[in-house]
This record gives sequence, structure tokens and C-alpha cells, in this order.
Amino acid sequence: MVATLNVALLGAGLIGAVHAETLARRLHGVRLAVIADPVEAGARRLLERFELADSRYEPDYRAALADPAIDAVVICSPGASHPAVIAAAARAGKPTFCEKPLGHALEPADQALAEVARAGTLLQLGFQRRFDPGYQRAQALASDGSLGDLHLLRSLTRDPAQPRPEIARPWAVFLETLIHDFDLLRWLAGSEAVEVYAQAATFVSPPGPEPGSFDTALATIRFASGALATADASFHAAYGYDVRAEVFGSKGMVTIGDGRLDSAWHYGPAGVSRPRAHWFQDLFGPAYVAELAHFVDCVRTGQPPAVTGQDGRASLVIAQAAIESVQRGQPVSILA
Ligand SMILES: NC(=O)c1ccc[n+]([C@@H]2O[C@H](COP(=O)([O-])OP(=O)(O)OC[C@H]3O[C@@H](n4cnc5c(N)ncnc54)[C@H](O)[C@@H]3O)[C@@H](O)[C@H]2O)c1
Repeated sequence: MVATLNVALLGAGLIGAVHAETLARRLHGVRLAVIADPVEAGARRLLERFELADSRYEPDYRAALADPAIDAVVICSPGASHPAVIAAAARAGKPTFCEKPLGHALEPADQALAEVARAGTLLQLGFQRRFDPGYQRAQALASDGSLGDLHLLRSLTRDPAQPRPEIARPWAVFLETLIHDFDLLRWLAGSEAVEVYAQAATFVSPPGPEPGSFDTALATIRFASGALATADASFHAAYGYDVRAEVFGSKGMVTIGDGRLDSAWHYGPAGVSRPRAHWFQDLFGPAYVAELAHFVDCVRTGQPPAVTGQDGRASLVIAQAAIESVQRGQPVSILA
């Protein structure tokens, strides 16, 4: 018998709903006890949808943090708010799972990490691709020498559309989307980025009021190991949701992601077809459950999480270098 872990969800938007389902229905010995969000309707909808009559709503996440009955928190508020919420959770002594990114700027992110270090609390970042079996096998092949010396890597993210362009943040293509690819490339390369050159463009989205509202971007990265990588992203994939990666080395190559939903092919008069993923949950549903299961295990056992605050920081450093590269029109070095 494991003691029930009482968890508070801070943020009840798009990804908050995904994690709410996991916390409410899919993890043994976990209770989604509180949902905090300044906007009441979304939180109440989740409490109803998952039949959480004994759980409560809080308008202010700090009330959840102050509750001694809460054992751990899952942060799903907007990216720029993450450092403040992480720091407050650390001060309250709560083990924390925080969605990517670690933040939008390095200084508050570093202050949050310092609070976590001071408090000695657990912090896991929400890079769920690392919990996908295909990506895990690729990383094992890259790190155990099966692919030889790693020469070239690539990772891409193509969204069918920006969910709500009206609330899109400047530089979101780097800070919110390619941040996944930057994390993955570091993990697959087993090395840290030393130089980034990035370009960005707007093909479809109406120009935003602030600079940095791009819908397409491409970054090349040089790693300390010598490996070269590319990452690209688009917010306008006409054919659905598309996430792929490749690692090419002196002894072979591994590719990950073909967008298929299942193994069935349909043969008909017009040809052969199969359905493909249209949204992020289609591709990564099980990985979102696996990352929270890992978090709960880490809270229970005290083992360090597989994806740390420092991972969040390293990907943010690459994203910031990519933004600077676009602004200056030249490669940007990352100092160790
Ligand atoms: N891992 C993934 O694949 C993935 C997918 C989607 C979003 N995300 C990340 O999750 C985060 C949230 O994204 P989203 O698409 O769910 O956004 P969203 O706008 O749909 O939801 C954010 C919610 O947080 C609430 N909120 C704002 N400030 C808050 C605070 N201080 N405390 C509690 N709640 C607060 C908002 O009212 C809103 O309901 C972002 O960092 C995003 O990058 C990750």
C-alpha cells in the first residue's frame, strides 16, 4: 500500500487538461486535490469532467502552495510565469513538475533554480519526448556506441496551426516550440551546444504587434563534441502534427517519428493510405502519462528526475542564442 500523494495542478489550460486526466485517472495512489487558475471556468470544467467532487478550486496558486496537505505540484501556467511559480513552490518545500520551458528569460530562470537548490526540492521539467519509447531507443543507440561517432543530428516540430495566435508570445517559435528540439538534440548528442545560427520567417501568420512573431524557424547548432545539428519548426503543417528526429553517426543512423497513428494501411481505388497524427496528444499521449508517473516515482523514492532544472536551463540558453542570432544575423557562441 502506498500513501496517497495529494497533487495540486497550477494552470488549467490546454496542457493542464492533459495532465489533469493523468493525475485524476491514470496514476495509482495519486489524488488531484486542488486545481488553481485565475480563470475559474477552465478549472471548474476539469473538476467536473474528471468527477473530482472532493477536490477544490483555488483562484491563486499560492493558496495551494500554502496547504500542508499538498504533497507535490504540477505547473501548467504560461511559460513566462514558470520561474516565479517554481521559486514559490521551492520556498513552500513542494516537489515540482513544471511544463517546459523553464521560463522566457535566463535571469528569473536562474533565480528560480537557486531557490530550488536552496530548498533542496525536486524539480522535473516537462520534456515529454524523452519518455517516448522511440526517442528512448534512439538515445540508447546514440549513447551506447551503436551509431559510432555522432556526426549529424536533426529534430523538427511542425504544428498544424498556432492554437491561439492572439495570445502567442513573441519568439514563441524558439521559446515554446523549438525548445523541445533543443532539449532533444542535447540529449541525443550527449553534448552541450557551443554555437547557434538561426533564421526565422513569417509565411502565413499575420504580423504581430511586437517583433519576433515568426511562424517558421531554422537553427543550426554545433555541439562541444563536434556534432552538427539542425532544428526546424513551422506553425502551418497542412497535413497535421509532425515531430521527427534523426541521429547519423560513423556506424549507422537512427530515425524517429513517422506520424502514424497505428499500423493499419488502407488499400482503396485511390491508392494506399493510413491516418496520421493531427495534434500533440495523438503522438505523445503515453509519454505525457509516463513523465508524470516518473515524477511521482521520484517524489516517493527520492531519486533524482531524468529531466532536471539544469536541462530546462540548457535548452533556454540555446533558445536565447537562437533569438540573438536572428536579431544579429550571425552565429552566436555559447560560453561554457
Ligand atoms: N509539453 C508539451 O507538449 C506542451 C504542450 C502544450 C503546452 N505546453 C506548455 O505548457 C504551458 C501552458 O501552456 P498551455 O498551452 O496549456 O497554455 P494555456 O494558455 O492554454 O493555459 C495556461 C493556463 O494557466 C492559467 N494561469 C495563468 N497564470 C497562472 C498562475 N500564476 N497560476 C495558475 N494558473 C495560471 C491561465 O489562466 C490558463 O488557464 C506553456 O509553458 C507551454 O509551453 C507544453
